[in-house]
Amino acid sequence: MTNSRRKFITSISMLAASSTLPLQAFDFGKTKKLKIVLVGTGVRGTSFWGKRLVDEYSDILEFVGLCDINPGRLEYAKGFIGVKCRTFTDFEEMIKKSKPDLIIVTTKDSTHHEFIIKGLKMGCDVLTEKPLTTDEIKCQAILDAEKMSDKKLIVGFNFRWNPYVTKVKELLQNNSIGKLTSVDFHWYLNTYHGASYFRRWHGLKEHGGSLWVHKSTHHFDLLNWWIDSDPEEVFAYGDLEHYGKNGPFKGANCRTCDYKKECDYYWDITKSKRDMDLYVNNEEYDGYIRDNCLFREEIDIYDKMSAQVKYKNNTVLNYSLTTYSPIEGWRVAFNGTEGRIEAWLDIPYTKTKVVDQEALHKAEMAQNKEEIFDIEPIIVHKLWKDFDTVDVKTTKAGHGGGDKKLQDSMFKKTDSKIDPYQRPAGIRDGAMSVLIGIAARKSIENGKPISIGDLSDLVPQEKRQS
Ligand SMILES: NC(=O)c1ccc[n+]([C@@H]2O[C@H](COP(=O)([O-])OP(=O)(O)OC[C@H]3O[C@@H](n4cnc5c(N)ncnc54)[C@H](O)[C@@H]3O)[C@@H](O)[C@H]2O)c1
Repeated sequence: MTNSRRKFITSISMLAASSTLPLQAFDFGKTKKLKIVLVGTGVRGTSFWGKRLVDEYSDILEFVGLCDINPGRLEYAKGFIGVKCRTFTDFEEMIKKSKPDLIIVTTKDSTHHEFIIKGLKMGCDVLTEKPLTTDEIKCQAILDAEKMSDKKLIVGFNFRWNPYVTKVKELLQNNSIGKLTSVDFHWYLNTYHGASYFRRWHGLKEHGGSLWVHKSTHHFDLLNWWIDSDPEEVFAYGDLEHYGKNGPFKGANCRTCDYKKECDYYWDITKSKRDMDLYVNNEEYDGYIRDNCLFREEIDIYDKMSAQVKYKNNTVLNYSLTTYSPIEGWRVAFNGTEGRIEAWLDIPYTKTKVVDQEALHKAEMAQNKEEIFDIEPIIVHKLWKDFDTVDVKTTKAGHGGGDKKLQDSMFKKTDSKIDPYQRPAGIRDGAMSVLIGIAARKSIENGKPISIGDLSDLVPQEKRQS
């Protein structure tokens, strides 16, 4: 093994072992490149973990294999990403033949465990998209596989790298409101972004674990990291009252629907070349319909979600997720023994200019390099004093700029070896964030609070560990 490759792999291992060590220690560009394979060539795999890696970091890495169960999408992905590597529909064959250093997992959520476990067993480091997995049994199997392996697992939590949420972390870390006692966190998905989950595989629990896992894993990871303690107990309510069986009419899918004119949610996939190339042109291989009816009967996830979480350090969290809001945005408030922090992003009523909700969703998902910057406030209000406003420079592109910063932290060299905000996430972070969502699901099903410690062999700690 060459010296630079050894350094990279060592740094991946160190990252997962201690969240204070980011990947950026990589000494790149000298000898052999890092060999990467990717499984799951859908929208996230081809863009963020595919084309973007090739465009930005080709001096230090190369793709040696792509894998997907859909051969048509796989062929399209190769061209879109811009690589000449071999393609496979069999994951194990890909690993045996291409011998990668690092496997990137961007398949449907319910299958992540399969590739993480096999990848670790076959002697590779693994980087998985969120969520780590979708239920507690798969979660424990991943924890066991990681313990048995000398290779490491990274979870790609991009939200921590958004400068605005990093600033919130800094304020909490600096003890600006004393000891944290309670948190309110509310996330509103609009009728473009929220609706999109109900059209896709995400609409069934068996594929995405419900939005409690697929979506809220982002939020619970932020909360665990901000609160800096482990979740201990979860009580939740949730229901499906808007999408799925509640719709006034149904069609096979938007393209062929008789209710195109009446349905506020009608979405013309044929207008998007990218969606046609990725999904519609490859329906013949797996039957996956990307513009499925969001009022179909089989949808079994919740569209309103509310939970209380008690943390081991006694912080109490009130959380909600709404999926059919006229606006997209979020609010958080932290109460401490010495004051309060309030933060929010994208709430249009606080802005002077009108925000186009469809354009907002597109900008957020975009991986283009053009970034439009804005200044967003965080309020820090100490008890008995006037409040202060902390202004933060933000962008909308690629999850608030978090996408780019996450990858730069892995693949670009910087002077600092230690991240002062502990943003790199390892297996424990991945597990703790999905376990809250899994507990919330179980709480709704059983009508009682669920202990996080009962779901796996991870024991909740007062001070968050990585
Ligand atoms: N961090 C983020 O902000 C973010 C954003 C979008 C998606 N994601 C994650 O990325 C992953 C992919 O999401 P997406 O939106 O690209 O979905 P997608 O449906 O576009 O792509 C999923 C791909 O996985 C393939 N696949 C499914 N099962 C497979 C299997 N058993 N073996 C091989 N391939 C398989 C499908 O054919 C498809 O090509 C998900 O886990 C999602 O949670 C993360």
